[in-house]
Amino acid sequence: FSAFLMDSFGRQHSYLRISLTEKCNLRCQYCMPEEGVPLTPKADLLTTEEILTLARLFVKEGVDKIRLTGGEPLIRRDVVDIVAQLRQLEGLKTIGVTTNGINLARLLPSLQKAGLSALNISLDTLVPAKFEFIVRRKGFHKVMEGIYKAIELGYRPIKVNCVVMRGLNEDELLNFVALTEGLPLDVRFIEYMPFDGNKWNFKKMVSYKEMLDTIHQQWPELEKLPEEKSSTAKAFRIPGFQGQISFITSMSEHFCGTCNRLRITADGNLKVCLFGNSEVSLRDHLRAGTSEQQLLTIIGAAVGRKKRQHAGMFNIAQMKNRPMILIGG
Ligand code: GTP
Ligand code: 5AD
Ligand code: SF4
Repeated sequence: FSAFLMDSFGRQHSYLRISLTEKCNLRCQYCMPEEGVPLTPKADLLTTEEILTLARLFVKEGVDKIRLTGGEPLIRRDVVDIVAQLRQLEGLKTIGVTTNGINLARLLPSLQKAGLSALNISLDTLVPAKFEFIVRRKGFHKVMEGIYKAIELGYRPIKVNCVVMRGLNEDELLNFVALTEGLPLDVRFIEYMPFDGNKWNFKKMVSYKEMLDTIHQQWPELEKLPEEKSSTAKAFRIPGFQGQISFITSMSEHFCGTCNRLRITADGNLKVCLFGNSEVSLRDHLRAGTSEQQLLTIIGAAVGRKKRQHAGMFNIAQMKNRPMILIGG
């Protein structure tokens, strides 16, 4: 494994998240302010060629999983082509997307043909009117259609990301659990995290412990599944259910110790930690004609500066970061 992708705590970064766009067809409350965010001029966003050049470089150094994020990755016009070209990279095992599901039913057949292997879909409520309140747009039925299409096309697991917020959807936990009885979904309850412009506060966050308690009371037979290496999620199942549930406990029990993730933003910055604001522009180096060796040295130095863990929820709530929509999760 490449020394450039190993940090000073011995963590090997084999998972790269690439944001394909800063735009989105929804306006989720936990991700962006109502009025939107200032967008980067088009000329400063990575071109498809630049994305593929960087992907090739990281895969050569040992990245075996790439997840495409956004904004909403499925609104980038050439997303299918990007997946197809990534598929050509020897050594890349997994290509995933994290999507809001709006365009999924329409695009999934071609994405699958192009080689998309892993699918995470955001869905925070099962109540259509509440959906419109949380995401500030219509589209609940489109997302459900996308989920059913994923089931039909054989995607397993299908991860459903549910950001749990007090006063908004914490009353739906048991309904989401019930959904996993007859459908092969991995519903992932995510602790609400602070990002610029999302009005996070501690009271709105529902902790892993609290969620687990609620579910455990209804389902005492809930059993914990073995931990997957470097996973963001703690998984559980109810015997007899087709699907499972998981918890992403970034706030109450972070999993930084086994972090294997790096990020490239749509404007071409390498971001070594979701909650770290030191970024380096790979775009500028690419455009300046920096050699591959120099680029690797720059990447290696950034990875080398990665902190052991994030600074704790109250500190990260104070720090300057990007809004979630400009990071990609
Ligand atoms: P898999 O690749 O399927 O394991 O999914 P993932 O959990 O890595 O990615 P996804 O895009 O589905 O994100 C789900 C939630 O996990 C979001 O809230 C992300 O912000 C969060 N998340 C993803 N990666 C990290 C990470 O490295 N650190 C922290 N703290 N949270 C992360
Ligand atoms: N806290 C926790 N998770 C979030 N996501 C977006 N914003 C937040 C937040 N503030 C999740 C969405 C999406 C994934 C990329 O990140 O559920 O699926
Ligand atoms: Fe990795 Fe940073 Fe997430 Fe911790 S907070 S798991 S170090 S990206």
